Amino acid sequence: MRIPDETITEIIERTDIGDYISRYVPLKRAGSVLSGSCPFHSERTPSFTVFPNTKSYYCFGCGAGGNIIGFAMAINGLDYVEALRLLAKETGVPIPESSEEKSFGIKKARIYEANKEAARFFHQSLMGEKGKSALNYLTNRGLTLTTIKRFGIGYAPDSWSALYDLLKSKGFTDEEVDVAFLCKKGKNGKMYDIFRNRIAFPLISTTGEVLGFSARRLNENDDRKYVNTSDTPVFKKSKFVFALNMAKAHSATELIMCEGCVDAIALHQAGFDGAVATLGTAITPEQSRTLAKYTKKIYLCYDSDTAGQTAAEKGIKLLAQLGISSKVVKVTNAKDPDEYIKKYGAESFRKLLQGANGEIDFLISKTVGNLDISISENKLKAVSDVCELLASLDTLAEREIYSERAAKMLGVSKDAITEGIRRRRKNLERKGKKEFDKKEMLRTMGAGDKVNKDKLSMPGEALLEEKLLGILMIQPELYKFAEGRINESIFFTEFGKKVFSVFKNDFESGTEPIISNESLTAEETSSIARMIAVRQSHGDNTKEAVLKLTEALEDKKRKSDADKAISDADEDSRGEALKNYIDSIKKNKK
Ligand code: CTP
Ligand code: MN
Repeated sequence: MRIPDETITEIIERTDIGDYISRYVPLKRAGSVLSGSCPFHSERTPSFTVFPNTKSYYCFGCGAGGNIIGFAMAINGLDYVEALRLLAKETGVPIPESSEEKSFGIKKARIYEANKEAARFFHQSLMGEKGKSALNYLTNRGLTLTTIKRFGIGYAPDSWSALYDLLKSKGFTDEEVDVAFLCKKGKNGKMYDIFRNRIAFPLISTTGEVLGFSARRLNENDDRKYVNTSDTPVFKKSKFVFALNMAKAHSATELIMCEGCVDAIALHQAGFDGAVATLGTAITPEQSRTLAKYTKKIYLCYDSDTAGQTAAEKGIKLLAQLGISSKVVKVTNAKDPDEYIKKYGAESFRKLLQGANGEIDFLISKTVGNLDISISENKLKAVSDVCELLASLDTLAEREIYSERAAKMLGVSKDAITEGIRRRRKNLERKGKKEFDKKEMLRTMGAGDKVNKDKLSMPGEALLEEKLLGILMIQPELYKFAEGRINESIFFTEFGKKVFSVFKNDFESGTEPIISNESLTAEETSSIARMIAVRQSHGDNTKEAVLKLTEALEDKKRKSDADKAISDADEDSRGEALKNYIDSIKKNKK
């Protein structure tokens, strides 16, 4: 049993899509729609639009669109049922229990269970006889027993099947342990443990489930320093933030983002409750959205090497787009925060945090830093680079503040910077608009339209259909003026036919359709949102337009029927087929 349609409809109806989306994106009202900067791609001119009337959204920049469920899925990285559950909770719509239980992935629950068993087993192994040297390793690295327990750190024994045997005895199937990325099938057909002779750091979600492991080698001769759980139904590396559960439990308001889990753990032990980590990668857009839910301020505390600094730079930009201000912590005379704390202690680290550069300062000094600006060519280049950077800031206030600082750093007048910024912003706008037009045109022509596969072979027909359906979605009451002429048969593309049949009842009764339906995929919903968005911003949604479009489709239909009849006909009857077609046109003209 799935979640009943009535429940879904009720959730959609009870959610104020404008309010909901405003939590993630600042929106401005423009007539009957709301607009802002798209949370799904980075952009300078807002092309993200919310349509409260049809309860949909669409981004003219990147094509993301759909209803509130699709939005909740995309922004939170949830699957359909998870998003529904979340919205149900917020709107207070009850989800019938039996349907919930059955549709909410049985598989996932099993993976959580298997992971929990594994974590318990690893931790016990660390504390047991076989874990002695592993425990030694950890304490030598300065971790206390309390920390080890708090983080549930464990030891995966040097064995091919210790974990497998245990899980099997607990009733887990080969498929389950394989999907969970705990064991794998070897060439000899036997299952073997993936984590062997390694320190196992459990990766725990903010709701307390064990999602997977990051496992560090103990034997320095092992090829791979870390073996991490690869993506499973419950874990996605690019979405996961290590120790966020701890930061959350401490209600830490400022997060400290590190590159590795050992760093985050060492910082927690030293009293920094907001320490979190990605698993050795730069912050991804998904992670930054997760972070945005917890904080407005982040210290980026990456390794002191170039890779770390590049990662910091990327992070700054991503976070800034979500309104999170970040500061870059320069870890000096140590490879990473873990090493730093051990060498210089917590107080010194706190000073590092205090001395951290604000994001723009960091970027300006990075831009200027590489150049000797006493040479005038270099100075010109630095001014130009800095203007480029500042031009990308969204608010005038920010641009003003930093122009002043940049002018001082570079020893030029503030006017010179201001003028440089103005010129660049103008170029950016022009470029942005061009790109937008080009993309929209390509989309309209059907290039890359995965939803409407027929669009490439019949772009004209598809465009007429989209216009007609778009109008009907906004003004279903216009349907009746076509007096029954609009039915499945006047649509050419499979997708057009499908959309019509899904919303036919709404059109017939003149009720505004809600674009969510179990029989539509997220991509299809997005395409429908686009049809609506285009019509809503276009405006000519009248009875006349409906009639004109209907007629145009009928014309095309007659022509294609005749084409077919003529090409099917043999030599002798071809003339007659042509005559029939001409007659039909004449009849229609009357
Ligand atoms: N990492 C990885 N695979 C590797 C190396 C690193 O997945 N081969 C990830 C790990 O999550 C690690 C992070 O990148 O925590 C940072 O890597 P690194 O700085 O090399 O490791 P440290 O965290 O400093 O680990 P240690 O202090 O134990 O050497
Ligand atoms: Mn380290």
